[in-house]
Amino acid sequence: MTARPRLTVFGTGYLGTAHAACLASPGFEVLGVDVDAARARALQAGTLPFYEPGLEPLLRSGLRDGRLAFTTSYRAAADFGDVHFICVGTPQRPGSGGADLSQFESCFAGLAPLLRRPCLVVGKSTVPPGTAAAYGRRLPEAAPAGPGAELAWNPEFLREGHAVADTLRPDRIVAGVWPGRAEATLRAIYAEPLAAGVPFLVTDPATAELVKVAANAFLATKISFINAMAEVCEVTGADVLALAGALGRDRRIGRAGLGPGLGFGGGCLPKDIRALAARAAELGVGDALEFLHEIDAINRRRRTRVVDLARDAAGGHLEGRRVGVLGVAFKPGSDDIRDSPALEVAARVRALGARVAVFDPAAMDRARRVHPELEYAGSVLGAARDADVLLLLTEWAEFAAADPEVLAKTVARRAIVDARHALDGDVWRTHGWDYRAPGRPGHPVSVPGARTGHMAGVPALGVALRDAEVACLAAAI
Ligand code: UGA
Repeated sequence: MTARPRLTVFGTGYLGTAHAACLASPGFEVLGVDVDAARARALQAGTLPFYEPGLEPLLRSGLRDGRLAFTTSYRAAADFGDVHFICVGTPQRPGSGGADLSQFESCFAGLAPLLRRPCLVVGKSTVPPGTAAAYGRRLPEAAPAGPGAELAWNPEFLREGHAVADTLRPDRIVAGVWPGRAEATLRAIYAEPLAAGVPFLVTDPATAELVKVAANAFLATKISFINAMAEVCEVTGADVLALAGALGRDRRIGRAGLGPGLGFGGGCLPKDIRALAARAAELGVGDALEFLHEIDAINRRRRTRVVDLARDAAGGHLEGRRVGVLGVAFKPGSDDIRDSPALEVAARVRALGARVAVFDPAAMDRARRVHPELEYAGSVLGAARDADVLLLLTEWAEFAAADPEVLAKTVARRAIVDARHALDGDVWRTHGWDYRAPGRPGHPVSVPGARTGHMAGVPALGVALRDAEVACLAAAI
């Protein structure tokens, strides 16, 4: 292997493109590879096929300096590279919770027979436990270089919307290696972040691949935990935002990832917890991760809860109502609509008979292709025009900055469901809005099968109490 290895990156989605561009920036020569010729051409022309703040300038500077290029040719990549990063997608298998590894398999099967000289193949895709071991066994058999072709696992933890920062300065770099040259090679590739103090954790490959899915399972659990508490808040009169703030002050818990609201979506957390639970069951330890099904169920209930809030705010039914939707991306800073809670809520409200006008700063084109039945407005004001109720479903900064008085002049009724807790409810109510937010029953909300209770000594404010809860509280007073 040369002193400064030449790198290839297979798969040019958020992960692969960010990885390729960020490795080119400290001076590596990098070749990005994708089976999608249109995508490879767009990237070679300096155009990102998706929205990711800060990535396009990095892409263009790599192309301009001649350190970065894109191809569809596996042969060119095998001839070029000393280290091959595999960053292809591992979506959910249709009709099952398991991961679909077909892209990984076809990348490996296409590349390995072309590897004639010593090289390192590095798995970065998110995969179920056991994947690294299986490919580690196959690589020296499939590659003409034999044992000269090594496998390592180096999972990626970047968040969409923060891909560049998370790639250049991750919280940690995990290198899953077997004995050989892999550790030294990875240390050389990551010399720049390591010099800046990023921790480099060396593990076996089985642990490395598990760190990734375990991290996503933990993050999903944290989000569903606070959302489960939001359900409790709604029947006890507690305030989930205050609760999250107080819990987060405990250094062992921390506030990050404890954001209640509409729950998690996107191309990672939902499918990763399902794939991990499915693999655990295959491995005979399904009981250990049974709770992940509950995490998933809590998360899916959030969407139903927000549809219920929308119905309540619209006066008890959605048929014929005009609903303005702010946000369809699965989170701000991204145009990704994969398993987007916001888009699902918009579509469900539409299916219940409402006329739905949506606006999102980045995800409009993608949403339109999947849900042509929704109306697409050109601005916040356009989505709000004549609305009976507004739904804030993705917490883009420009929505949080919306002026309640200006919007009041546009809507038909001053009613808003703030599913992401992005607004100051007191301010909106001061301006005459019926403001509702999940898990904050201090603002008038109701839950199905609940009744509003107001007893001496129990906080009033339209607190919704289930019968058992009322009896229990009454006994305590
Ligand atoms: C997630 C992980 O955070 C990354 O570490 C990981 O590398 C990535 O998946 C992946 O596997 O590729 P990402 O899907 O980009 O990253 O998004 P997050 O920022 O984690 O948000 C996921 C979802 O959870 C979003 O829908 C977001 O709105 C929601 N969320 C997040 C909450 O509902 N509450 C929170 O407190 C945080």
